[in-house]
Amino acid sequence: MRIASASDFREAARRRLPRFLFDYADGGAFAEETLRRNVSDLSGIALRQRVLRDVASVDLSTTLFGRKLALPVALGPVGISGMYARRGELQAARAAKAAGIPTCLSTVSICSIDEVSKVADPFWFQLYVIRDRAFMRDLIATARAAGAEALVFTVDMAVPGARYRDAHSGMSGPNAPLRRLVQAMGKPGWAWDVGLLGQPHQLGNLKPLLGAQSGLNDYMGWLGANFDPSIQWKDLDWIRAEWKGPLILKGILDPEDAREAVAMGADGIVVSNHGGRQLDGALSTARALPPIADAVGGALTILADGGVRTGLDVVRMLALGANGILLGRAWLYALAAAGEAGVAQLLELIAREMTVAMTLTGVNRIDAIDSGILVEGRTA
Ligand code: GLV
Repeated sequence: MRIASASDFREAARRRLPRFLFDYADGGAFAEETLRRNVSDLSGIALRQRVLRDVASVDLSTTLFGRKLALPVALGPVGISGMYARRGELQAARAAKAAGIPTCLSTVSICSIDEVSKVADPFWFQLYVIRDRAFMRDLIATARAAGAEALVFTVDMAVPGARYRDAHSGMSGPNAPLRRLVQAMGKPGWAWDVGLLGQPHQLGNLKPLLGAQSGLNDYMGWLGANFDPSIQWKDLDWIRAEWKGPLILKGILDPEDAREAVAMGADGIVVSNHGGRQLDGALSTARALPPIADAVGGALTILADGGVRTGLDVVRMLALGANGILLGRAWLYALAAAGEAGVAQLLELIAREMTVAMTLTGVNRIDAIDSGILVEGRTA
């Protein structure tokens, strides 16, 4: 099948990956209501079609955190993405750089900060709130030394969400390693290319903490044991003091929390419900974003993620009040399906789809996209 969209990449990824990996990427928390609504609420946002407005040249570039970018889009942080293609974080980062957009590396990546920062440009680093504050400080120092231009601090992972699919698939639970092995043997393309040649599958950034044991088995255990639900807004002061560059809080879904983010001196937020992987029943991003943009728009940079699969969705999110978008599943599916070339193709598709959306809504610059292109304004 010829790939024409992110949903084609999803299907190709489903065919290539062992089930535990596909379901880990594709699934969400509990009954996956928020995951579904992220997609359906966003794709339900109606656009005003406008005609005869001379949109012969459309400029998709923008500036985020002082860097000119070819698109208002970044590769969002995705844990263990290096298992979706051979040394996957490196492949994705190369494609992002060629497309002129940032890569945000996850704390729990396979490839380390040192490896990925050499190929990503701009390079951003995502950090969790973990119990071991000295280790957090070390990671911040490593990211700084590696030239990270932004720190994306995830605040919605005080506990891991209840992921039913992971328990069913063998990503977690009893006999998980054996079940994963059996699934991998049924996907020889992946097993050879990634399972064998993609070794080691250690969590590159956690090696100092976990040693040689930092494989997939420890991943779920480590996540569960190391998140810190005791953290409060005032605890962020030391992070602000530690990291002088752009600080972005990821996982804001409420206008009051967005105001707190402004008060603590954040430079940006990511309006996000973690791709529906945490609190099921939480608002979709498309619904959460407009009141947040009304509350703090202009005081900091607003990024958003959740349900963005096409360039049309990117334009919708911008019209709802975002300044930029983090892609998650969309790039992971493309990476799993076709490696670096897949991510490059996905970003080309997104750019082309954005051009179509902007042309037919009568806007030719990113900063001209606002609620005026929405049929119902920002009230959706
Ligand atoms: C980790 O951040 C996850 O969503 O699994």
